Amino acid sequence: MRILVTGAAGQVGAEVVAELERRSEGMVKGPGLDVIAADRSRLDVSDRDEVLAAVTALEPDVVVHPAAWTAVDACEDDPDRAFAVNALGTRNVAEAARIVRAHVAYVSTDYVFDGTSIRPYNEWDAPHPLSVYGASKLGGERELDPSATVVRTSWICGRTGPNMAKTVLRLAAASSGPLRFVDDQHGSPTIASDLAAKLVELALARRQGVFHVTNAGATTWYGFAREVLAAAGWDPGRVEPIPTSDLAPPRRAPRPEHSVLDNAALRLSGGELLPPWQESLAQLVAALTR
Ligand SMILES: NC(=O)c1ccc[n+]([C@@H]2O[C@H](COP(=O)([O-])OP(=O)(O)OC[C@H]3O[C@@H](n4cnc5c(N)ncnc54)[C@H](OP(=O)(O)O)[C@@H]3O)[C@@H](O)[C@H]2O)c1
Repeated sequence: MRILVTGAAGQVGAEVVAELERRSEGMVKGPGLDVIAADRSRLDVSDRDEVLAAVTALEPDVVVHPAAWTAVDACEDDPDRAFAVNALGTRNVAEAARIVRAHVAYVSTDYVFDGTSIRPYNEWDAPHPLSVYGASKLGGERELDPSATVVRTSWICGRTGPNMAKTVLRLAAASSGPLRFVDDQHGSPTIASDLAAKLVELALARRQGVFHVTNAGATTWYGFAREVLAAAGWDPGRVEPIPTSDLAPPRRAPRPEHSVLDNAALRLSGGELLPPWQESLAQLVAALTR
């Protein structure tokens, strides 16, 4: 089975490639895998000709598609780029995959929701993005055939690339003063390696439809920062809660207040859920501070 991974140098892309390599080395039982890791320099998803040429030449069985422009605030200032990469780029991937009959597994986001729900969002709740980024990712979802896998996730932290766990560790090491994080945005932190394992499982099984996939449990960025410090053996009491309105400078893109995702499709179909976020975060922090 040949698998093409877009955005392969990103947080999720790198872990997807690592998970596929683990499987192809026989560490996980399954078919032999031929993994093609395409970072942006090798495959720019916003370039239709390039995508069609690459996919028809490579003839993958499955395309795992985490490539995206993920700079949420920058997307507000350049909606054309956001839609060119996240929405039209996904149209290009979907079109090319259709030609070679490859299965597509797309990674989407909790930011497709407005965060006004008082309960976690399930896969059948109506999206209503607040930001350009969220709208462009929803646009990507709408480019896919119903047979595609769509994995919506949230608050990703992994070994590769910048993320909030690394930011907390960096700020904590840089000064002994208080660290301020917002306590009025609620979500589920998700560790990239856990997400990648489930994403690969769903993609290889050609599971159809939308799946919410996050680590279990929810918190605020304040609670998250405290947990990062505790996992690193530092004093979580250094973290102080602030409202989003106190962020300086203010963020350009509005964030959903409550974007906890109910992993309902997995849960109701008897699928194994991801472990609690604190457990996986502790392992990530150990790896980052080793
Ligand atoms: N991070 C989160 O908290 C979060 C939450 C929910 C959902 N998601 C979704 O999860 C997926 C993976 O996110 P991530 O955290 O791994 O983001 P990431 O680290 O920014 O990875 C995205 C990758 O896509 C690449 N890319 C950007 N434009 C591209 C283009 N035109 N063609 C091909 N590749 C391109 C980027 O390359 P360059 O770095 O060279 O631009 C980057 O390597 C995305 O679809 C994102 O929307 C992320």
